Amino acid sequence: MMSIGIHDLSLATTHRVLDLDTLAEANGVDPAKYHIGLGQDRMSIPAADEDIVTMGAQAALPLLERHGAEGIRTILFATESGVDQSKSAGLFLHELLELPRTMRVVEFKQACYSATAALQSALGIVARNPRERVLVIASDVARYELDSSGEPTQGAGAAAMLVSADPALLAIEPISGVVSRDVDDFWRPNDSTTAVVDGRLSVTAYMDAMTSAWDDFAAAGGVGAEEIDRFCFHQPFTKLARKALARLSQHTGVELPDTLQEASFAYNRELGNSYTASLYAGLAALLDHDDDLAGRRIGLFSYGSGAVGEFFTGIVQPGYRQLRRAESIRDQLAGRVPLTLEEYRALHSAAHPSDVDWETPRVTEGPFRFAGIRDRARRYEATQTAPAGPTQE
Ligand code: HMG
Repeated sequence: MMSIGIHDLSLATTHRVLDLDTLAEANGVDPAKYHIGLGQDRMSIPAADEDIVTMGAQAALPLLERHGAEGIRTILFATESGVDQSKSAGLFLHELLELPRTMRVVEFKQACYSATAALQSALGIVARNPRERVLVIASDVARYELDSSGEPTQGAGAAAMLVSADPALLAIEPISGVVSRDVDDFWRPNDSTTAVVDGRLSVTAYMDAMTSAWDDFAAAGGVGAEEIDRFCFHQPFTKLARKALARLSQHTGVELPDTLQEASFAYNRELGNSYTASLYAGLAALLDHDDDLAGRRIGLFSYGSGAVGEFFTGIVQPGYRQLRRAESIRDQLAGRVPLTLEEYRALHSAAHPSDVDWETPRVTEGPFRFAGIRDRARRYEATQTAPAGPTQE
């Protein structure tokens, strides 16, 4: 049977970062609560001229530079930090990346889960025509109210995936376990720039969705937990993934030590929650830091509040180490400019009117920037650092 899956995967984040020690000091909290209790060290914060589009385009650029745009006829942009109620964020990205017009471009939404819905849709498109490739973008900015308990679990990041037949990274297996249930654990009303969250309920809803998705996976004929070599969970904060694996171990009766997922935490500890991108940032970290994955099966759990969960598996392809981007991700993370508490709070509270013309200050050193609002429309542009357009393979 033809294999279909993730041919390549790339991440991007913001130009600014807040160290959680800075937040802990301001909140009068023991920093160990954030570093150990939540398992987080820093969180990416968008500069005034960055958003989901600039991060998404930055994440996609290395894929296009490496593989070209040939065969890509679909862009699926998954986000819960949409910049417009009607237009897909993918259209701005499509223009910035100078991609051919012969494409369909849409946006997917269901909290952090929608990137997995986009991935599954991409697998279906490629199954129907194996010559096609699909660009899946997951990009989000996680924002909670200042001084709320969710504040240390903010963050930002984007993952771009090229989905194709005969993938070079991860062949996705056909069996999935899925679950949906209407629950008020976390949502963002149309008039709010921050999420409304019941933290405790969100954690129990996540765990319930994980075990229910697992049960559906098992009922659909999925492999046993003992046949899964590594795990990668949605990581709103990395400690939750530790709890999730322990819960799965208890649920299945199979010993599942943390060493089976430890490598997946490397990027999310630094990014913070990146909502739709979080699971795939975990996958990128696992592929970049575990040298013994060729031919191994990874179990992935995707969760989006509200709530939808999916458990699925993939087989790592033999040449995965040649496709790694660990160095450039390390450079991006290390290159972020730390914010003082005052700068962070000012950025958090900044108004973003859409009914007057305004220009953003030039801050980001990434390849693309949000330039501001003109005639009520969002304007984006390439920066001086943007490399030349995509090359063909
Ligand atoms: P909280 O009430 O501030 O924290 O909120 P806590 O009191 O529960 O403490 C957290 C942990 O730190 C605990 O560990 C403490 O013991 C420990 P646990 O008992 O749980 O193992 N701790 C310490 N450890 C070491 N040294 C210390 C210390 N002090 C305490 N000195 C909460 C935590 C996660 C609820 C909050 O941050 C929050 O509401 N976050 C946002 C919601 C969230 O992330 N939920 C996760 C599940 S929902 C999800 O994943 C979906 C989501 O990504 C959105 C989407 O789908 O779109 C969020």
